[in-house]
Amino acid sequence: YLIGVDLGTSGTKTALFDQEGRTIASCTRTYPLSQPQNGWAEQEPEEWWQAARETIRGVLEQSGISPEEVKGVGLSGQMHGLVMLDGEGRVLRPSILWCDGRTGRECGEITERVGKQRLIQLTANPALTGFTAGKILWVRRHEPELYAKCRHILLPKDYLRYKLTGEFATEVSDASGMNLLDVANRCWSGEVLEKLDIDPALLGKLYESTDLTGTVTAAAAAETGLAPGTPVAGGAGDNAAAAMGTGVVRAGRAFVTLGTSGVVFAHADQVSIDPGGRVHTFCAAVPGAWTVMSCTLAAGLSLQWFRNQFCAEERRQAEAEGVDPYDIMTQEAERSPIGANRLLYLPYLMGERSPLLDEKARGAFIGLSAMHQRGDLIRAVMEGVSYSQRQCLDILREMGVAPDHIMACGGGGRSPFWRQMLADVLGCTVQTAWAAQEGPALGAAILAGVCAGVYPDVPTACDAIVHSDQSCSPQPEAGGRYEPFYRLYTSLYPALR
Ligand code: XUL
Repeated sequence: YLIGVDLGTSGTKTALFDQEGRTIASCTRTYPLSQPQNGWAEQEPEEWWQAARETIRGVLEQSGISPEEVKGVGLSGQMHGLVMLDGEGRVLRPSILWCDGRTGRECGEITERVGKQRLIQLTANPALTGFTAGKILWVRRHEPELYAKCRHILLPKDYLRYKLTGEFATEVSDASGMNLLDVANRCWSGEVLEKLDIDPALLGKLYESTDLTGTVTAAAAAETGLAPGTPVAGGAGDNAAAAMGTGVVRAGRAFVTLGTSGVVFAHADQVSIDPGGRVHTFCAAVPGAWTVMSCTLAAGLSLQWFRNQFCAEERRQAEAEGVDPYDIMTQEAERSPIGANRLLYLPYLMGERSPLLDEKARGAFIGLSAMHQRGDLIRAVMEGVSYSQRQCLDILREMGVAPDHIMACGGGGRSPFWRQMLADVLGCTVQTAWAAQEGPALGAAILAGVCAGVYPDVPTACDAIVHSDQSCSPQPEAGGRYEPFYRLYTSLYPALR
């Protein structure tokens, strides 16, 4: 058996799999996102650890297996978040998350110190507010006393690794999102660290995703129910881990995730960098490979926000009846036609990363009239999020990374209505894989399996485990009706900026 732990933004999910990738047990704990100021986003690392230990204990109890039968644990999680620890391993402040946009000034400073093109050349990405380096500089500027106490800088899932194994370590896929890694050479960039005056000793030891990074300590065993000595593999950032669970481990394969964020993610055997930095190039969890991906900040988050603000009563009722409130919202949206009765939505609730790189962008409904019903607004949200993914896919296509079919994952990917909309808007077959429902947790477990020698390598493991099931083909007639709205959508941000 293998365990994958995925530290998400809305909660931590742990799942226990057998060697064939079947889910034996799965357990999730949610936690809040705190937004102390407009555009800020933080979480408490201690809440992550609490969720991780409860869910690990949960899957062990549910499955009834003996902890010694777990061959390895793999970690995956939200990328970019900054965790700072003092010399005793104590958390110094809440983690500043990937979707926090406070570091505009610091990103300007990074660009100035390293040089825009040099930074893209070395780290494969421009200075981005979501990425970790800007957050480090922000703490150094605004909380110098706290920064002086900092001895360890970790990414979210790597904090769980520290709690499980006592090791300060990370791996290349997640480290790619820090603006500090030499992505082409898969090592920390001495030049960037020096120019930003960040002590390399603060950073964890760097591994490949399938490497052994440590084993479960006696103390962590007592807290989680795992056996002491259980191997903990490098694991991967959530998207790189999701790629494993959808079989995106070879050129020509891609997936789209509608989770809190929206991601289009394609595998690449070579480093390919967008000179404008509009999409990211990262190390893949497959050793020796890379990925090109876009990330929009409020995909599922847009619908979640709408649900929370405008469907509270339906939500209460649905939950009381054991129905998914999103199903009810989707049914309402289905009654609205393509184009949502000429209503458009821009999903920039948290500013926007791909492809705008503008943390000050904000969302909008355009074209509201008194005839609109709530279903039109819901449909407009789903369409706007779909258009934003299309805009990103068009950039990947420009870079010559052109997938012929795309796997759908994340909460939004579970909706057949939204999947068909994506197929029509993206102009590409959209498929699901039964394994993909487990998302990054399965990917993390696969990496643990390769680490523990259960599988010879990542592609072999994925071939054995991942099979696609449902498939939506693009419908040319619907695609043609979406097209003018998509064109209009792409003209709105420049007009409103
Ligand atoms: C990727 C990114 C998000 C987070 C969300 O660059 O910021 O996908 O990893 O979990």
